[in-house]
Amino acid sequence: MLSQQTIDIIKSTVPVLEQHGVTITKTFYSNLLKKHPELFNYFNRANQARERQQTALANTVLAAAKYIDNLQAIIPAVMQISHKHRGLGILPEHYPIVGENLLIAIKEVLGDAATDEIINAWAEAYGVIADVFISIEEDLYKAAEQDGGWRLFKPFKVSKKVAESDEVTSFYLVAEDGEKLPDYKAGQYITICVKVPGDEYTSNRHYTLSQPSNENEFRISVKREDAVNPHGVVSNYLHEQLSVGDTIEVSAPAGLFTLEVNSNPVLFVSGGIGVTPLNTMLQTMELGRQVSFIQCARNEKAVAFKEQINKKVNELNGTYRVLFSDDKGYVTKEDLASFVKENTEVYICGPAPFMETVISIVRDLGVAGDNIHFEFFGPAMSLDAL
Ligand code: HEM
Repeated sequence: MLSQQTIDIIKSTVPVLEQHGVTITKTFYSNLLKKHPELFNYFNRANQARERQQTALANTVLAAAKYIDNLQAIIPAVMQISHKHRGLGILPEHYPIVGENLLIAIKEVLGDAATDEIINAWAEAYGVIADVFISIEEDLYKAAEQDGGWRLFKPFKVSKKVAESDEVTSFYLVAEDGEKLPDYKAGQYITICVKVPGDEYTSNRHYTLSQPSNENEFRISVKREDAVNPHGVVSNYLHEQLSVGDTIEVSAPAGLFTLEVNSNPVLFVSGGIGVTPLNTMLQTMELGRQVSFIQCARNEKAVAFKEQINKKVNELNGTYRVLFSDDKGYVTKEDLASFVKENTEVYICGPAPFMETVISIVRDLGVAGDNIHFEFFGPAMSLDAL
């Protein structure tokens, strides 16, 4: 239990530290990875290059510190991050390493103002925040082990590779130990761990499971990213080098972006590869629930899963529209207005600017916040974004 004095110190220093958020996060990461290069095996170096992870982790510690006397309030946000951590295999012993380097960064930013009292208060507060993550993550590890699951990674073989569009390929994965796979919810993802030839470290990536749960195989559908952009390294490796019969390491399904089972009408709005979780959700829907599916893609060649979506939407007597951004830019209010009725639940997935546009349109159309469900691809940028 933290003393009132410690709580006061934390609350009074958070605003100063937030002002210097960029310096803290940069100092923190460069020290962390210099001293512990083995952590390159965990951090997505493409997100590092784009400074996204820096923003996410250290800013979240600062944001959490604001709630230091009421950490219950941030549990929903922590859950979402902890699902990612569990998928990546982040362990309790990693937390002190992050904490130590965060304190060094705080000292650097505060300079002479960083008295022992302040640094000790931050050390204590970080410990309390870290314990919340560690305990939630331990529960998630235990849950993952149940019902045919496993704790960290286990080897899977690629059993099939199918092109879904010019840039999306599905990979079918079967467990090498022949065990049945655990049930998962539509919208959940797995984390894969691969060693790209020529790379000293392993790379982890989260991919949505792109077909409903079945005990024999997982399927992920991967968009090939631009090869010259650093974030294309893994997707290009998967597309071009990973072949049927090859092995990759996979962690058990995780994630909280799933379809609420109720009788409300559903509107799915996908942008690009954001179609994968939404298509999986659609495929699990039962007759009787109203559905509309708006799929946005750059052009005809980039449309994945068109036949599957069309077939299922027809079975459900719903509506399916494909919109091309090359023709008219992002989706507009007119495109969505006729699909929003009372109680419609909207599920949105796609690149961040697309999602921001769609979220603001559906809010304008009167959809209640609780009925808007979305997931950012890539790191969530702050607690508020969750
Ligand atoms: C991802 C926060 C501790 C490794 C993240 C994200 C946040 C976050 C906000 C982005 C989640 C998303 O993608 O939506 C925190 C906080 C921590 C903490 C507040 C401490 C209290 C750790 C530790 C490690 C770690 C101890 C291990 C060294 C990672 C990795 C990712 C991640 C590897 C994914 C990065 C990527 O691949 O882009 N964390 N984290 N985190 N965290 Fe943590």
